[in-house]
Amino acid sequence: MIEVRVPATSANMGPGFDCLGVAVKMYNRFLVEEIEEGLVFEGCDDKFKNEDNLIYVAMKKCFEKIGYSPKGLKIKIEGDIPVSRGLGSSAACVVGGIVCANELAGRVLTKKEILELAVEMEGHPDNITPALFGGMTVSIYEDNKVIYNNVSVKEGIKFCALIPEFTLSTEKARGVLPKSIDYKQGIFNIGRAALMISALNNGDFDMLKYACKDKLHEDYRAQLIENFYSIKEECQRLNCLAVFLSGAGPTIMVMLREEDKNFAENMQKFLDTLQNKWNVVELEMDNEGTVVNGVTH
Ligand code: HSE
Repeated sequence: MIEVRVPATSANMGPGFDCLGVAVKMYNRFLVEEIEEGLVFEGCDDKFKNEDNLIYVAMKKCFEKIGYSPKGLKIKIEGDIPVSRGLGSSAACVVGGIVCANELAGRVLTKKEILELAVEMEGHPDNITPALFGGMTVSIYEDNKVIYNNVSVKEGIKFCALIPEFTLSTEKARGVLPKSIDYKQGIFNIGRAALMISALNNGDFDMLKYACKDKLHEDYRAQLIENFYSIKEECQRLNCLAVFLSGAGPTIMVMLREEDKNFAENMQKFLDTLQNKWNVVELEMDNEGTVVNGVTH
């Protein structure tokens, strides 16, 4: 039996559309074993117990690349990452599936090859890279290759996810984005993405409120997330360091000082006054990424 644990991820991080991402301590676990025949799923809804299951699709893609044919498969899923909430659940399934298959086949692919296969499948490196390597990452995709780097983040911050009960598909959230942007919007984001990285790197957390702003996706997606601006305003009133739309949303991610003990409770009180149900979950950054049988991959 092989056990693979993959963290949730929060992509974009404000100005870093499609390139910045961070792994957090919320996990999906995948337990797989080769059986004599058939395909058996455990731990997921009946509607996902078929060959279209994303974990199975990712495993199949990996087996095809390696040239390995398992007799049968048993796949058990223990998932804490909510689906279609902007917390990288599909990236976790793709990474988890590929890593499980690679382990069953005898660890044939390198981590870089796993990264590239996963990005080829999922499309966005900003979730896949931190899911695999942990921490905060910058990644770009060029000529079918992922070029990435870990950002060294100074100690002293934590994250807080505001997770609504409603879902939003990435497809829908990308569908509202414009085909082109204004030169000024490009300049706005470049400066802030660079400042975001240097502020986190140097531990200048007070700068995050200037750095963590965006003109490329959040305003377009706000129309799909009821109360988006009033929630952001409340986060700022409660002295967060920064607040941004997590990936394609609808989760809103907050950055806090590690010693902040009041934000989560006060924010939950505010969210409870809204029509939709929202859950506040404090999360530390995950620095391990994907773990196989208890060992960092
Ligand atoms: N960067 C992507 C987006 C993340 O915001 O659409 C979703 O996978």
